[in-house]
Parts: sequence; structure tokens; C-alpha cells
Amino acid sequence: MISPNLQAKLSTPLKIGSVEIKSRVLQSPLSGITDLVFRRLVRRYAPESMMYTEMVHASGLHYIKGLPKIMEIDPQERPISIQLFDCRPDFLAEAAQKAQAEGADTIDINMGCPVNKITRKGGGSSLLRQPEVAEAILREVIKSVDIPVTMKTRIGWDDNEITILDFAKRMQDAGAQMITVHARTRAQGYNGNARWEWIAKVKEVLSIPVIANGDIFSVESAVKCLEETGADGVMCSRGTLGYPFLVGEIDYFLKTGERLAPPTPIELLECAKEHLRALGEYKGDKGVYQARKHMAWYAKGFVGASVLRGQLSQVETVQEGVGLIDKAIESLEKGYEVELESGLAMV
Ligand SMILES: Cc1cc2nc3c(=O)[nH]c(=O)nc-3n(C[C@H](O)[C@H](O)[C@H](O)COP(=O)(O)O)c2cc1C
Repeated sequence: MISPNLQAKLSTPLKIGSVEIKSRVLQSPLSGITDLVFRRLVRRYAPESMMYTEMVHASGLHYIKGLPKIMEIDPQERPISIQLFDCRPDFLAEAAQKAQAEGADTIDINMGCPVNKITRKGGGSSLLRQPEVAEAILREVIKSVDIPVTMKTRIGWDDNEITILDFAKRMQDAGAQMITVHARTRAQGYNGNARWEWIAKVKEVLSIPVIANGDIFSVESAVKCLEETGADGVMCSRGTLGYPFLVGEIDYFLKTGERLAPPTPIELLECAKEHLRALGEYKGDKGVYQARKHMAWYAKGFVGASVLRGQLSQVETVQEGVGLIDKAIESLEKGYEVELESGLAMV
């Protein structure tokens, strides 16, 4: 399923400046999702993959003492990148120093976020329209740290302004050590297909590693994307919601040519329970509220999943959530026994 050329390329480490990563599959930064708890789950199945924190507001960081929880990393979790956003080179440089001190292997600058609240203030994807500011940011941040600085962006502002080729070249010239391209415009948000053909074009004009992002939901889509774009790696995003197995499944396939068995609904629910407990422990009540959306994402692929999703999206305590999940697991096990007795599970 993978061409020999691709296999040969993928068997070498991904080099981000001085940092070598033994995996070509990355877990994207996801605001409100990729906290320490989530990353721990992803890393269990993808121990060699690069993970990203949620994006951290550099100006916000300037005005507080200490670090926000979203910037916290576990000393054992490597390789890890801390993602920053802002439009002020000085605040970004200061934040990058704090990220380096916290133990980040690389700093990533967000130049792709489409959210109005962020673009209005000149951050995220609005930097596509101000390449000189983006360059200044990179130069300033690179000067302030010893670790590689990378960036993540989109293909352009909208269909009339697909500027990625020029933009990416400028970022490389300013010193970026890797670029991740989410192959949608800012105007697309998360709609429509990712336009991987643009990643192939970016790859042709750059010498730094190019990571493909957008619509990587399975082993098949990852391989197809790598074949079509020639990218140096793929980054998984929404495909990991309620499915922290995805990065590991793709990584395993790229390394061995073999598929891992997908988790059963019971295994998914066990994972949901672990996620809920860990979020409760790590963040208290706030963690439980955040866990609601995760729980709902896990509960799929079996009879009764939609009812369970509704219930889980309203839980108030860890115990309540665990109770609901345990009941669902029990009835799935009973169903499985019935299937076994009737021979259905053997089909
Ligand atoms: C809930 C959510 C939060 C996100 N947060 C971030 C973020 O903090 N930083 C970032 O660079 N991209 C963020 N993104 C964008 C994703 O990393 C990714 O680029 C995008 O979802 C496209 O990939 P996909 O089609 O595989 O989902 C976020 C996307 C979603 C859906």
C-alpha cells in the first residue's frame, strides 16, 4: 500500500533543525483539547510522535506571574512543542523563552487560527496578510531561544488570496525550521475538503520539512496524503477527537506496513473513563466540564451510543460519568455474550 520510495523516506527521522523525531506523524495543537492529559493518552500509542500544546497567548503570558496550565508539560513527555500566538514579536520572544525554560523541544508560532477574536488583533491567520510582521516575529523569536522555531499556517486568506507559496518561502528565509500547512483557506474555516495539492506545491519550493495537515482521519488518508504531496510528515487533528489512537495507528503502519487492530467500543469507553478520571484529577470541576465533550466523542459505534452521548454531555461529577460508562460497558459485554451464544460474534 505504501510505495517503496515513500517507505524509504519515512524510515528516516524527521529533522527539525537540531531536533530529530523518530516519527513522521504528529499530533496537532488543539485548543481546549491537547492538554497534558490528552497528550498522555495519545503518546501511549505513539511514543515517538511530536505533540503540541494548545496555543498560548504570548501577551497574556506577559501580564501574569508563572505559567498557565495549558503551557505545563511533563518532563518525560518528549518530543513536545509549545505553540504560541500573538502579533507582537517582543511578547512572542519573551513567551518563547518561558516555553524553552519549561522544556519545549521546539516553539511553534500559530499563523493559521481563523477565529475572529484572534485575527482582529493581528494574530493567527491574519499574519498571512502581514508577511512582514510574520517575518519579524520569526526573526525575533529565533534570536531569543536556542531551540528550533516552526510555524503552522493555512494556504491563504480566501480563494482570491492563496498566498502560501510566497508566504512559506518568506518564512523559510526568516529562519523557520519547519512549516505545517493546513490545506484550507482562512475563509473555509474547517469546511470543504483540505486542498492537498497546495501542500505538494509548497513542498516543491521549500527545503525545510513540510508537514501536511487537514483531513487526516485514517491510515488510508495519511498514506494518500503523503503520496500525493511528498510531505515530510502528516499532522492529525479532528480525527483524534475521542480517538487518541489515530496518531499511533498511522505511525505503526508507516513503520511496519501492518495495521493495528482498532479499539472495540468497550476499549473506547474504557479510554473515555480514564480520560474523564484524569481530567477530574488534573483540573477539578473544570476538568469534568471539559471532559463532557470528550466523553461524547468517545461514545460511538454501538447501539445506544447516542443516548449515552446525551447523558455524558451533562455529567456533573467524575463518579456520575464513570457510573454511566460502566453501565454501558456492562450492557455491551452482555450483548457480546448473547452474540457469542447465538454465534453472531463469530460471523
Ligand atoms: C477544536 C479545535 C481547536 C484547534 N486549536 C488549534 C490550536 O490551538 N492551534 C492550531 O494551530 N490549530 C488549531 N486547530 C486547527 C487544527 O490543528 C488543524 O489545523 C485543523 O483542524 C485541520 O485539520 P483536520 O482537518 O484534520 O481537523 C484547532 C482545530 C479545532 C477543531
